[in-house]
Amino acid sequence: MKKVLITGGTRGLGKEIAKVFALDGYEIYLNYFDNDEEAFKTKNELFEYGVNVLLIKGDISDERFVDYLFNKIGNLDVLVCNAGIDNVCDIKDKSYVSFKRVLEVNLFANFLLTQKFGLQMESNGYGVIIYINSDNVIDKNDDVTLEYDVSKSGLLMLAKDYAKYFKNVKIHTIAPGWMDTGMNDIPDEFKDEFNFVSTSDVARLVLKQVSSKESGNVEVIR
Ligand SMILES: NC(=O)c1ccc[n+]([C@@H]2O[C@H](COP(=O)([O-])OP(=O)(O)OC[C@H]3O[C@@H](n4cnc5c(N)ncnc54)[C@H](OP(=O)(O)O)[C@@H]3O)[C@@H](O)[C@H]2O)c1
Repeated sequence: MKKVLITGGTRGLGKEIAKVFALDGYEIYLNYFDNDEEAFKTKNELFEYGVNVLLIKGDISDERFVDYLFNKIGNLDVLVCNAGIDNVCDIKDKSYVSFKRVLEVNLFANFLLTQKFGLQMESNGYGVIIYINSDNVIDKNDDVTLEYDVSKSGLLMLAKDYAKYFKNVKIHTIAPGWMDTGMNDIPDEFKDEFNFVSTSDVARLVLKQVSSKESGNVEVIR
């Protein structure tokens, strides 16, 4: 059975990605940070698809946790680097701590994951890594999301350089527009003002990229 690891796979976009891979018959490894309630709910929902689902709780920006993940899962067919955080506030209210934290989760963690799983895939002769980026890096950056924009710009280069290096591993970047998830947490009465892209459309694009012959490409969806 093919294996996929989805970071931040228990809610928001990650959960929709987990569903499309479950429908495609993958064995599913779902990482999350601390929200056990959502994680167990998602695991139960995915059981309906008749696939194996394993939850692995931990901070992907912690090198020891990434080592643990790697030892626990072993060979992967697909890695979806989806987990991400933001910190929306006026530039005057941003701190070194918040800046560093967003970079740790959105950028450094994906370096750690790729160094472990990506290099293993390369020596296995097959693998696909998908980085969930944002259309902020195309033309939607904003001063209130400074550290998020910096982290996602770094992630874009990370994907490009790994795509140059890997011969056997395909690398794809997907850059969605606004989605209606916990990251945005828009009150219901304001949702009509936003033109959200649907998480299930993004999830289907993620699965489609798995069979793409390209590498190093960037797909914008909004
Ligand atoms: N929402 C948007 O409008 C939007 C637009 C473009 C791109 N994106 C990107 O899409 C991706 C998914 O975002 P989303 O909107 O689905 O976010 P979300 O609803 O806030 O879900 C985030 C997921 O990431 C996990 N997570 C957070 N920090 C983590 C850490 N340190 N280690 C492991 N897991 C961690 C969370 O776990 P817990 O549940 O345990 O907290 C949760 O499962 C992100 O990369 C984001 O930048 C989002």
